[in-house]
Amino acid sequence: MKLSSIIMAKFDFSKRESFGSKFGIIAAAAGSAIGLGNIWRFPYIVGENGGGAFLIIYLFFVISIGIPVMLSEFAIGRGAQRNPIGAFKKLAPGKPWFLVGIMGVGAAFMILAFYTVVAGWTLEYLYQSVANGFKEKTAEQIGEMFEHFRTTYRPVMWFLVFMLFTAGIVISGVKKGIERYTKVLMPILLLILIVISVRSVTLPGSKEGLDFLFKPDFTKITAGTVLEALGQAFFSLSIGMGTLITYGSYISKKENLTTTAVSVTMADTFIAVLAGIAIFPAVFAFGIPPASEEGLVYKTLPIIFQKMTGGYYFSLLFFILLGVAALTSTISVLEVIVAYFSEELNISRKQSTWLGTAAVAVLGVFASYSSGVFSFLNFTSASILLPLGGLLIVMFIGWYYGKKKTREELTNQGTIRVVIFPVYMFLVKFLAPIAIAAVFLYGLGVF
Ligand code: PHE
Repeated sequence: MKLSSIIMAKFDFSKRESFGSKFGIIAAAAGSAIGLGNIWRFPYIVGENGGGAFLIIYLFFVISIGIPVMLSEFAIGRGAQRNPIGAFKKLAPGKPWFLVGIMGVGAAFMILAFYTVVAGWTLEYLYQSVANGFKEKTAEQIGEMFEHFRTTYRPVMWFLVFMLFTAGIVISGVKKGIERYTKVLMPILLLILIVISVRSVTLPGSKEGLDFLFKPDFTKITAGTVLEALGQAFFSLSIGMGTLITYGSYISKKENLTTTAVSVTMADTFIAVLAGIAIFPAVFAFGIPPASEEGLVYKTLPIIFQKMTGGYYFSLLFFILLGVAALTSTISVLEVIVAYFSEELNISRKQSTWLGTAAVAVLGVFASYSSGVFSFLNFTSASILLPLGGLLIVMFIGWYYGKKKTREELTNQGTIRVVIFPVYMFLVKFLAPIAIAAVFLYGLGVF
């Protein structure tokens, strides 16, 4: 074959893959949504920001903005049957909307680079749990262990191992890779989380932890916490960057997108709350002040496991849980990149996977050692690109793609009823764009 014909060759879209079952779709999409965001970030943010009061605001955003954005992504993906950039090019030919897709693929590189670094730490802690490495260590020593670990070669090693796991699943394709693994991993995750939650709430003195999590304190609600709630909703639901456009493009034309979006959102929220129930009662039962984010998981919890009867096993279970949750998320982000490479550059899935993995690996090594790079990637993707992407996605549906075509897509060409359609259209046209824009501009300090 001549070089020119290789370059000119186009991806054969008739060979595009799809998910095989309804459960597979939900496992994959909920797998993407449920991740580190649910297990280490959500519980702490809720506790710190007014418990039940924050929860109400969070739920409001999830329902009024999260579900509409998710549904819009599914509609775009399934309507176009393409990766995020190709999807906008197909649905809005000759228009600049494809830039939203470019932003999404860019965000995918950034998220994968810092997120997989954290996921890699899980493997070190799993290893330490097996080797009983926290045994008889004081709280201070456990804290130092984490700080020391981060200066060694090991974070990069575990990051690369985690990338390889991710690539290994994505390379096998949508049905034989992503769907096959998430269908097994998600039930395991749920089971482990239930076991840990039961242990946690049955410890003496656990009530204080439940109070920390649920007791509403409206004095803690400020404009800043409202912003925090929206940002968390976007990150936790994996929306705003085309992950769910990509997954949506693998959903069959017969599925009900609306019920799928609602189920995925419910699963994500349920697991986030359950993670809080698994963590805080135990933390408070042992009278340890909880740290936030990585401190909570990598410093506070190992201390708790030392003190708890059966802690050896709970430590193992917990880090397996965290690794599984992260893995089903990283594969969804890598899939965005792979779908883009394979369809737009027309290279095989195998080559796309390695190319994407190599590019992320370079970025991740920097993120691993430099907290500046890490924070930059984290902030730019989660606080800027996701909300901006979400805003543009709902505006695309509400103001460009329009009611008629969107209704066709969501009702499967008029064959199913979507009762909430008028409400959905109102939300994507008015409420969601205004709310996202307001919260976003406020966050950037514009007003
Ligand atoms: N939703 C994932 C979590 O909560 C993170 C994620 C964000 C995954 C964006 C994909 C896209 O951990």
